Amino acid sequence: MTGDQRFDAEFREQFRNLLRWRRDVRRFKPEPLPSGLLEEILELSRFAPSVGLSEPWRYVRISNPEIRAEIRKNFERANAQALSGYSGERAVRYARLKLAGLDSAPVHLAVFADHETTKGSGLGCRTMPEMREYSIVAAITTLWLAARAYGVGMGWLSILDPEEVRVVLSVPSGWHLVAYLCLGFPEQDSLVPELEEAGWEKRRAEILLLER
Ligand SMILES: Cc1cc2nc3c(=O)[nH]c(=O)nc-3n(C[C@H](O)[C@H](O)[C@H](O)COP(=O)(O)O)c2cc1C
Repeated sequence: MTGDQRFDAEFREQFRNLLRWRRDVRRFKPEPLPSGLLEEILELSRFAPSVGLSEPWRYVRISNPEIRAEIRKNFERANAQALSGYSGERAVRYARLKLAGLDSAPVHLAVFADHETTKGSGLGCRTMPEMREYSIVAAITTLWLAARAYGVGMGWLSILDPEEVRVVLSVPSGWHLVAYLCLGFPEQDSLVPELEEAGWEKRRAEILLLER
């Protein structure tokens, strides 16, 4: 179907606000998401682009407390290793950071790239199979914004051993973990990234754009 859908200045201002107020959230209120809300947000993420229209995203929702405990241990090991890579003042700072919302988030979602999918017939992946993983990132970014539009916060956890996560979740070996996501209502909203608040890093003031 064709058409000429347009977006007006008011929408653009709202969209800008959505982008500015999206945060990586690690502190959640304990209340669960209302029934059906996660599905509604996931439904929106389907509109994300994907290489060859392969839609290689695979989601696993983790509710089982024993599996959650395994993921928590996985994070603790990976985080301790990451900490050992810093020294001095950086190490002190790293140790103080809150880098996961695992304990309070009502929803845990692991997102995998299915490298064995036949959907899309391999278009765009022959020389660059990593495009499937990039497609997952596109979906997650869409999910992040969709969630925020509904007042739901999301945090991306990557300090994990991905193969251990795959095994504990009993998913096929052709699935590769791209993200472990925590979702729920944020304790508070902020215009400033938590890493910036913590003095770890700052958002750049401008885009780096070269001209040739
Ligand atoms: C690929 C990716 C992996 C990330 N992994 C982590 C993580 O393991 N732990 C964490 O606290 N934040 C993680 N983040 C969130 C970033 O720290 C965050 O996006 C950045 O500090 C900017 O903050 P903002 O998202 O609130 O704007 C990740 C973000 C991306 C895009």
